[in-house]
Amino acid sequence: METSTNDWNVTTWRSRSIAQSPTWPDVAHLERVESELSKKPPLVFAGEARRLEEQLGHAVHGKAFLLQAGDCAESFHEAAADAIRDKLKVILQMAVALTYASGVPVIKVGRIAGQFAKPRSENFEERDGVRLDAFRGHIVNGEAFDANERRPDPDRLLAAYHQSVATLNLLRAFTTGGFAALSRVHAWNQEFVANSLEGKRYSMIADEIERALSFMKACGIDLHDDSSLQGVDFYTSHEALILPYEQALTRRDSLTGFWYDCSAHMLWIGDRTRQLDGAHVEFLRGVANPLGLKVGPSMDADELRRLVDVLNPDNTAGRLTLISRMGRTLVSEKLPPLVEALRDEGRNVLWTCDPMHGNTYKASGGEKTRHFDDVLDETSQFFAVHQALGTWPGGLHIELTGDNVTECLGGGDDLVEDDLKLNYTSICDPRLNATQSLDMAFHVAEFLQAYSAANGARSL
Ligand code: TRP
Ligand code: MN
Repeated sequence: METSTNDWNVTTWRSRSIAQSPTWPDVAHLERVESELSKKPPLVFAGEARRLEEQLGHAVHGKAFLLQAGDCAESFHEAAADAIRDKLKVILQMAVALTYASGVPVIKVGRIAGQFAKPRSENFEERDGVRLDAFRGHIVNGEAFDANERRPDPDRLLAAYHQSVATLNLLRAFTTGGFAALSRVHAWNQEFVANSLEGKRYSMIADEIERALSFMKACGIDLHDDSSLQGVDFYTSHEALILPYEQALTRRDSLTGFWYDCSAHMLWIGDRTRQLDGAHVEFLRGVANPLGLKVGPSMDADELRRLVDVLNPDNTAGRLTLISRMGRTLVSEKLPPLVEALRDEGRNVLWTCDPMHGNTYKASGGEKTRHFDDVLDETSQFFAVHQALGTWPGGLHIELTGDNVTECLGGGDDLVEDDLKLNYTSICDPRLNATQSLDMAFHVAEFLQAYSAANGARSL
C-alpha cells in the first residue's frame, strides 16, 4: 500500500520527481555538505515535536487555536538579536490578544529558525539579455542579480543550519528565561506600537491581565509557583523545500523508533510541491513531525482526500494541518467543498487560514504588496465558511515582522502605495508590520468570540 511506511526510508524521495529543486552546479560539493550536516546535532527534539502534535490535536477538536507567524523568508543578513526579539514580541502580543478574547489556548509556532527556502514560478530570471538562476532563498543563493550570487551554493545549507541554531538558541532563552512571563505583558508593546490605536488597545488588555494577576495574588495564589505563567511553549516551522537539507537533519528517535526531521518542530509542504507522487510528499509522509499542507484554489476534494490518506494514514489528530491559501475572491467558492468532504469522512485535520499568499499583487511602482483589507477579508470569509459547516476555524498563518516596515498597504496607519518605498526590507513577500499584525489579532479575536457565541451550544 502506498501509505505504508515500511517501504519508506530517508532516501526514497530521491527516486521521485522533485519540483522546485535548484540545479546544483557541483553535486560532489553538495554531497560533502550533506554528509557534514548529517553529523550535526539536531535543532529540535522528538519529544518537543510530539508535544506540539498533542497540542495541535486539541486544536483539531476546537479546544485550541494555532498562531503560525513569521518571515516570508529569513535573511542571512538580518539575524540580529533585536530583530528576533521584536518578532517574538509581536507574536506574544498577538497571542495575548487572541487568548484573552477567546479564552482558548493559543499554540505559538514561528516561521522562524529555518524558513530560508522559496519556491519560484520561474526557474530563471532574465534582465537585459542576461539569464540567471531565480533567487530561491538564502539557503540556495543570493538575491542580487549577479552571476556569482545567483549560483546555487551548497555551503549555504551549512550557513542556514548555523543561523537556525543561533536563532533557536535565542528563542529558547527568550521564551523560557523570563522575557515571555505573563507579568511582563506590557514590556512587549514596542514604543512605536504603543502610540498607535492598536498599541493603546493592547495596553488596555495588558492592564486587565495585570489586574487579574494581582487579584489572584491577593487571594493567596502564588503565581511564581505556576510555571505556565512564566513562559511559553514556542515552536519552529518552515517549508520543507530543500530535501537534501531535511534528509541530513532527519534522525531516528531512540524512544519510539520513529524518524523525526529535527530541523524544526513542524514542516509544511507548499502548494507548488504537493504532487501526490512527488518527492516532497514522499519524504514528509515518513517523518513523524506534525505536518502542514498548503491548500490553494487548484486543489479538488479527491486530490485532497488522497493527500490526507498518504500524509495522515492513521487519522491522528494533530498530525496534519491544512493551511488554506485561496485568495479573497476564491475562498468562499473553493474552500467549502474541501472542508465538507473531510468533515463527512471524519478526517481529523486542523484547518487554518493563510490570508497572505492568495492576495499578493504588484503596486504601480513595481513592489510586491498586499492590502490589509484583502487579508482581513479572506480571514473573515474563512471563519464564515467554518461557521456555516460547523467546523472549527483552527488557526491563522501570517507573514509578519516586528519592525516598522511599509510592505503591506492599509491597516491602522493607512499605508498607501507611495509609502511602500519608505521602509521595504523584505527579500521576498510583503509582511505585515507590528501594528498591522496586532490589528489582525484583534479582528481574529473578535471572529473567535463571534464563533463561540454562535456555536456555544454546539460541540464540535
Ligand atoms: N504559558 C501560557 C500560554 O502560553 C501563558 C502565557 C505566558 C502567555 N506568557 C504568555 C500567553 C505570553 C501569551 C503570551 O498561553
Ligand atoms: Mn511568502
